[in-house]
Amino acid sequence: MKNIKDHENLDQKKVLLRLDLNVPIKNGTITDQTRIDKILPIINFLLSKKSKIIVISHIGRPKGKKNSNLSLKPICENLEKKISKKITLISDDVYKLKKDDLFRAKNGQIIFLENIRFYKEEENNDALFAKQLASLADLFVNDAFSCSHRAHASITKVAEFLPSFAGLQLEAELSALKKVTTEIKKPITCIIGGSKISTKIGIIKNLIPKFDNIIIVGGMANNILYHKGNQIGKSIKEENSKKIVQEIFKLSKQHFCSIAFPKDVLVGKNLQDKSKVKEINEIDAEDLILDIGPKTISEIKKIIEKSATVLWNGPAGYFENPNFANGSFEIAKAIVKKNKSNSIYSVVGGGDTIALINEINVINDFNFVSTAGGAFLEFLEGKDLPGIKALN
Ligand code: 3PG
Repeated sequence: MKNIKDHENLDQKKVLLRLDLNVPIKNGTITDQTRIDKILPIINFLLSKKSKIIVISHIGRPKGKKNSNLSLKPICENLEKKISKKITLISDDVYKLKKDDLFRAKNGQIIFLENIRFYKEEENNDALFAKQLASLADLFVNDAFSCSHRAHASITKVAEFLPSFAGLQLEAELSALKKVTTEIKKPITCIIGGSKISTKIGIIKNLIPKFDNIIIVGGMANNILYHKGNQIGKSIKEENSKKIVQEIFKLSKQHFCSIAFPKDVLVGKNLQDKSKVKEINEIDAEDLILDIGPKTISEIKKIIEKSATVLWNGPAGYFENPNFANGSFEIAKAIVKKNKSNSIYSVVGGGDTIALINEINVINDFNFVSTAGGAFLEFLEGKDLPGIKALN
């Protein structure tokens, strides 16, 4: 894998730069800027080399349709302020763009293409679309480790049409995670939560042989509760996950990996509601499970206490509403407490998980913070990530 910092001459070269600017936005305001801060080194590096930068990113999951709520505009504005440079956001149809027109004087040195997932071709890994993107530049840089588990046009296919390089952040994350996984100390605990159930539920099976404990919280846990015969009301869950849940428990017995999941929960009638503690057998049809309850927190704390390594991806609840943030905060505090006495090695990953540890100001109290969520878990699985493979 070639790194862009080893490129001999980037002067005036047009660089197609894939970033992950999928940051949380609430009412038009960015609520966590970590992913933007992490890409400042590559932007500054390319600026210093006098390259012309064409940034590609997605935000959210617009499923191939334009959606003004998922525009990259607020991110462009935020980055403009951070680097004190003009950035031009191009909303024109990508197919109509021509390389020679992109950097007219008024456009400056950096342009952004609008949310790349407005095109269905992106997620379809479409070759013609990738070719069109490639035609705009001289070389391709992937500095989006956190998207490299996706075989999408702007991550993998485009690398077939341009000389391709790893970015600074991608390489830093990859080498840190390689180091963590080769030097890992047992007992190892993996905490998996969040709402991207379809991305993560299949991964759990492959993690079982490698870990001593897997703690399943957040939306992920609803599937377990449901298939164990519990009422979960209106809570999110993945359809057709019965077989996976059964396999998870079968494999965990074979590999002596203990699986922990909520014993009690906090529910609300809607996302803005107050919280109410409920036992698992008390959940009614109108309830939404939005956090873990006190018994579950205390069980998780005991597991963390006995762990030498903890890897955490995905919040335990809907922490955007403070009434449902306690479970995630308590997990964070338990890890940080052990970290301060140097008795645990802790790795945390994913956009939402970073946002929540930032909220209580403990981001510097973990040993390693990865911007990646799904990619982080797939890397732990030992999978070849398509975005990395494409660079090789
Ligand atoms: C992430 O937030 O993990 C990345 O931006 C990938 O997002 P996705 O799960 O929607 O592909």
